[in-house]
Amino acid sequence: MRATVSRFPYMSSLLLAVLLLAAALVASGGLAGTAWGQSSDPVVSESPTGGQVPGNVLGSEADSEMWRAVRQGVQGRVTIPDPRAAQLIQSEGDNWRAWRNGPITVYGAWAMLGIVAIVALFFAVRGRIKIDAGPSGNTVERFNLVERVAHWITAVSFIVLAVTGLNILYGRHVLLPILGPEIFTAITIAGKYAHNFLAFAFMVGVVMMFVLWVKDNIPNAMDLKWLAKGGGLFSKNVHPEAAKFNAGQKLIFWSVILGGVSVSLSGLAMLFPFEFAFFGKTFAALNLVGFNLPTELTMLQETQLSVLWHTIVALVLIAIIVGHIYIGSIGMEGAFDAMGSGQVDTNWAREHHSVWAAKVTGGGTSSQAAE
Ligand code: HEM
Repeated sequence: MRATVSRFPYMSSLLLAVLLLAAALVASGGLAGTAWGQSSDPVVSESPTGGQVPGNVLGSEADSEMWRAVRQGVQGRVTIPDPRAAQLIQSEGDNWRAWRNGPITVYGAWAMLGIVAIVALFFAVRGRIKIDAGPSGNTVERFNLVERVAHWITAVSFIVLAVTGLNILYGRHVLLPILGPEIFTAITIAGKYAHNFLAFAFMVGVVMMFVLWVKDNIPNAMDLKWLAKGGGLFSKNVHPEAAKFNAGQKLIFWSVILGGVSVSLSGLAMLFPFEFAFFGKTFAALNLVGFNLPTELTMLQETQLSVLWHTIVALVLIAIIVGHIYIGSIGMEGAFDAMGSGQVDTNWAREHHSVWAAKVTGGGTSSQAAE
């Protein structure tokens, strides 16, 4: 029962990077100190009589010893096909529910409201970021059709996944009282199907984006200068140098790739329960660099951790993407065209991506194709 299922071992390494954050959380005592460390080989405490009831009135063992073992997750034997039925109490189930309905739901709600407040405040203070030199009227191709298709497959699927996912987490608190059980049930079931199937479109989009853009998203020294100047986002006429992608966009890119892979793997573990065991292997790898995490996880524990991790990563990603959507649409004049028509104004290109603009326009202002 304790054996960790070791199918798909190669996938666990993909989770490694993004699991560091959660590992810190777990290592800090959050999960490790609670019943996530519940053993399925419980140590039944020694009693002076060795568990024997004096006089054997109640049998050879005290009821309290038996129930303690049950409470600690002891695995008995059953004759039905599912051996998991032989575990009467699995404490991680309680912890799973407490984490999901407690801190994750509460802090997640704050994150959602917080990012909307930050974006609104930024808009109120900075307004729409204009092209300082004004539009030139000349354009240059920024993203070709394949790049735009990759972007919109990812974007549309992500938005539906985000909305339907948030409904799974918050719908009963927010929509159920407004819509009533019949309508809420109907839209939640439809949303669940959309969530299950669009997950695959999202995975395709993430892979396409990675292949198309990874070469332009390798961090370099220019990014540090860009970050030091806040990307010029906070003041007019400040335009730090940037190539095809600036440091802010590189952060978005890597968040989408790493977060996207992580949310996809944990999602697959939920779509196909008890088939994937990513956490035990990943924890074992983290233990090599000084963590002390449980590695012998049952498939039920694996699935429970997948649910929690999936929710945390998705909430962080949604907060990041809200900021991205703002800056890519109403937040910055001329930005949307890059993903709309694929053509951007050359003055926009010079202000926000000077190194790239010089390369693709040859310093000129006429319409010409990028790379
Ligand atoms: C309505 C929603 C969205 C709008 C209006 C939007 C807009 C844009 C625009 C205008 C760009 C090009 C920026 C440039 O020219 O430099 C862009 C790039 C990008 N988008 Fe979106 N986007 C949306 C949703 C999403 C979603 C949901 C994701 C991923 C989950 C995403 C991921 C990316 C990535 C990785 C890039 C390249 C890096 C970057 O420019 O930040 N976008 N988007």
